[in-house]
Amino acid sequence: MALKTHFLIFCIIIQITNVVHCANNEDSNDYITQIGIGNSATFAPGNFKNNVISLVSDFVTVSSRGFLNTSSGEGSDRAYGWFLCRGDLSDDKCKDCLHKIRQYITDSKNIFFYPEAFVFNTQLKCVVHYSNSSKSFEYRENTTFTGSGFGDDLDRHPRYNTTLFNSLQELAREAGGSNGIKPNFATRVVDVAGTEEKINILVQCTPDILAMNCTNCIRNLYSTFTPYRVGGDALGFNCLLKYDNEAFMGSGFGASFMPSYLHVVMVLLGTIYLTFM
Ligand SMILES: *[C@@H]1O[C@H](CO)[C@@H](O)[C@H](O)[C@H]1NC(C)=O
Ligand SMILES: *[C@@H]1O[C@H](CO)[C@@H](O)[C@H](O)[C@H]1NC(C)=O
Ligand SMILES: *[C@@H]1O[C@H](CO)[C@@H](O)[C@H](O)[C@H]1NC(C)=O
Ligand SMILES: *[C@@H]1O[C@H](CO)[C@@H](O)[C@H](O)[C@H]1NC(C)=O
Ligand SMILES: *[C@@H]1O[C@H](CO)[C@@H](O)[C@H](O)[C@H]1NC(C)=O
Repeated sequence: MALKTHFLIFCIIIQITNVVHCANNEDSNDYITQIGIGNSATFAPGNFKNNVISLVSDFVTVSSRGFLNTSSGEGSDRAYGWFLCRGDLSDDKCKDCLHKIRQYITDSKNIFFYPEAFVFNTQLKCVVHYSNSSKSFEYRENTTFTGSGFGDDLDRHPRYNTTLFNSLQELAREAGGSNGIKPNFATRVVDVAGTEEKINILVQCTPDILAMNCTNCIRNLYSTFTPYRVGGDALGFNCLLKYDNEAFMGSGFGASFMPSYLHVVMVLLGTIYLTFM
């Protein structure tokens, strides 16, 4: 009997750890963050903050467009901005992501207010760029903004690295040559020769820039944030890229829930074991 009780407690603990594990997963890989440009300490947002909130509310409403460059409010408090959703995501995921950005901005506990900022999902599912000046949205060259890498070091995967660089070059060209369906957006899942690995790559520009500028924009992303890990992303003022050895595009998002099935099976086995004891 004592043994049974212990086993039951063991099973319950597994379930609890599993929940915590999933929550952590969500927190560490998939959340909203902001990077401000300019001085937040001396910036008095006034009505600008409300205009930014109303701008992002408009974005939620028209999320199915995938991109919009517009403004909200009048005079010196006017907020300019655009949103961009990753082209592989459904309307629902785009809307949900923008909802979370709106929540993030509305919740003033989370945020210092800047005259200009990028607020984005850490998997680049959606990005909002807002500013108090329309000049922030004129296209300029070489404006890579932020980047990160994750997973194994690339020096240990030379074939992977070669395939990645060749594919990035091809995709930058592809995104520049409009394919008529989704301009300025290109993806690829490519096999790394001689290994079991696949690389999932996505590049995308804001659709308001010229095709040729898109190619340059993406080239600039991977030359500024030279990939050094098997997974990575980079965000510029007019383009983004993301790559990983694990599937992340479209329906790939469910993959992170796999471990929970394993735990459920273990709990079921535990229960069967108890029943037959
Ligand atoms: C975006 O909209 C602003 C005005 O709201 C405009 O000044 C700017 O040129 C637009 N950007 C592009 C790239 O069209
Ligand atoms: C935007 O805010 C900054 C910081 O307060 C200020 O210096 C700048 O003049 C503002 N720009 C416009 C167009 O209002
Ligand atoms: C942008 O960067 C490329 C190299 O990455 C360089 O050749 C080019 O001159 C740069 N352009 C500007 C406007 O700085
Ligand atoms: C990956 O390949 C690129 C292009 O050939 C090269 O510049 C870079 O140094 C390589 N990176 C690593 C970590 O080997
Ligand atoms: C964007 O592309 C056009 C056409 O190729 C080119 O004339 C222009 O200089 C480019 N702009 C920038 C900022 O690179």
